Amino acid sequence: MRLRGAWGHEADALAGVHGRAFSGGWAASEIAGLLDGPGGFALLIEEAEPLAFILCRAVAGEAEILTLAVDPAARRRGLALALVEAATGAARMAGAQTLFLEVAHDNAAARGLYAKAGFQEVGLRRGYYDRGPNPPANAVVMRLDLGPSA
Ligand SMILES: CC(C)(COP(=O)(O)OP(=O)(O)OC[C@H]1O[C@@H](n2cnc3c(N)ncnc32)[C@H](O)[C@@H]1OP(=O)(O)O)[C@@H](O)C(=O)NCCC(=O)NCCS
Repeated sequence: MRLRGAWGHEADALAGVHGRAFSGGWAASEIAGLLDGPGGFALLIEEAEPLAFILCRAVAGEAEILTLAVDPAARRRGLALALVEAATGAARMAGAQTLFLEVAHDNAAARGLYAKAGFQEVGLRRGYYDRGPNPPANAVVMRLDLGPSA
């Protein structure tokens, strides 16, 4: 198993993982746009195939986890925690002092993961996630302090 940086030209493979992890996964073009945009970076875990990735943005001293996806067949093996910890280091290296994310209030797995990684819940965005015909879901805003940049 290998954890490495991923790049815009790999967006198709990342979109494949995203589509297996989320109903209504993101298009490769959307992932490439974020990855190639200001401060975008991604980290990938692969064996023979890509299994999991995290996509982040670090701009002006603040970083954000934009998405995190683990193939359902590879869950509960510590991949997400390894990616969050690696992204924390990368965000710090990019000069960020805080790392933010939004997570659906009913996503117990992700909230448990982020709490384990040391994030604190700092806010709530009502109706943040469009769920089509279902009522929109609230987002919990979570923050990890990375300390002063070097
Ligand atoms: C949430 C997700 C990323 C977790 O990935 P994972 O690789 O299975 O997580 P890890 O194995 O690293 O788990 C680390 C910790 O997170 C928590 N956790 C993970 N999955 C959990 C679950 N299903 N229920 C409760 N807690 C869970 C646990 O504290 C776990 O530690 P433990 O295994 O020692 O109990 C994965 O389930 C996923 O891709 N879900 C769909 C997409 C998603 O929700 N992404 C995050 C939103 S931005």
